[in-house]
Amino acid sequence: MQPSIQWYPGHIAKYERQLSELLKLVDVIVVVLDCRIPQATVNPRLASKIGDKPTLIILNKSDLGDASQNKRWIKSFTGENQRAMLYDAKTGQGKAQLVQQIQALGEVTLQKLVAKGRKRRPIRVLVAGMPNVGKSTLINSIVGRKKTKTGHRAGVTKTTQWIRIHSDVELMDSPGVIPPQLDSPEAGALLATVSSIGDAAFDEEEIARFLLETIEGLYPGLAGRFFKLASDQTLSLERIAEARHYKLGGEQLDLLRTAQAVLSDFRHARLGRITLEHVPNHSVSTGDAEREKPQETNSEQPDISQ
Ligand code: G4P
Repeated sequence: MQPSIQWYPGHIAKYERQLSELLKLVDVIVVVLDCRIPQATVNPRLASKIGDKPTLIILNKSDLGDASQNKRWIKSFTGENQRAMLYDAKTGQGKAQLVQQIQALGEVTLQKLVAKGRKRRPIRVLVAGMPNVGKSTLINSIVGRKKTKTGHRAGVTKTTQWIRIHSDVELMDSPGVIPPQLDSPEAGALLATVSSIGDAAFDEEEIARFLLETIEGLYPGLAGRFFKLASDQTLSLERIAEARHYKLGGEQLDLLRTAQAVLSDFRHARLGRITLEHVPNHSVSTGDAEREKPQETNSEQPDISQ
């Protein structure tokens, strides 16, 4: 399923306004990131809106990301007023810990209310994130339902519904959408690799080439082995098309089909568990996340046992 939202400046402004309104209604925000591109799925403009509201960063799709990078990202996203954890929304693995973390973050706010003589009330929580990071799947995994309706997005209306997920915690029933920050071409390309912006918005060949180059930089040799290239061949879309015999007729290579196959193999982790943004040498948080080129080469082989 591709996200249906196309990002024009007007849409971005609308979603940002909506988020600001939603944030006023909650004590804790759960920001869902795709653990394969944790920085590209952070919108730095959101950080300024969140301010010092307690935040739980969810590195979702942990089943698809490189396990060693997953651990490092957790550390780098943990800070004052901000916790971070891995999650696999498809299986709901980690659900109990997620609720505990929300409780711990919200407790501070409740204590402040009680100290002011106000009555204790449930902690209110909003789940937010960019398209396709797994927000709806995460909400469904917590509340134990199968699917939210397509296009069911949180807006500030009189019908905002709260679901009690614990005696002390209420969750807004639909997610807030964080618009992508598309002023960085690299972030846009990374978002395209994981389907966070719709296929119609980019050139699949270009994105597949970008993806291959990024993987080769971080996991040298891995893609060449996966696509069964000879050891002296340079990794490229053309060599993969030849290896797979993707031709349009005659000898002309079918590069579009090849690009789609490369993207699909990556998105389904058939190449193994790959993280496209590695933890920079100094730590980052949503508060100071600056886009950086991956600086580390992971010499370990990603786990390719699926
Ligand atoms: P959104 O609300 O943030 O837009 O995302 P949504 O929950 O719709 O999830 C987007 C896609 O990501 C869905 O796949 C969903 O199943 C998948 N997904 C969500 N969380 C996880 C996870 O932790 N691990 C894995 N592997 N996948 C996850 P889809 O192909 O669009 O739909 P479907 O085939 O699952 O029906």
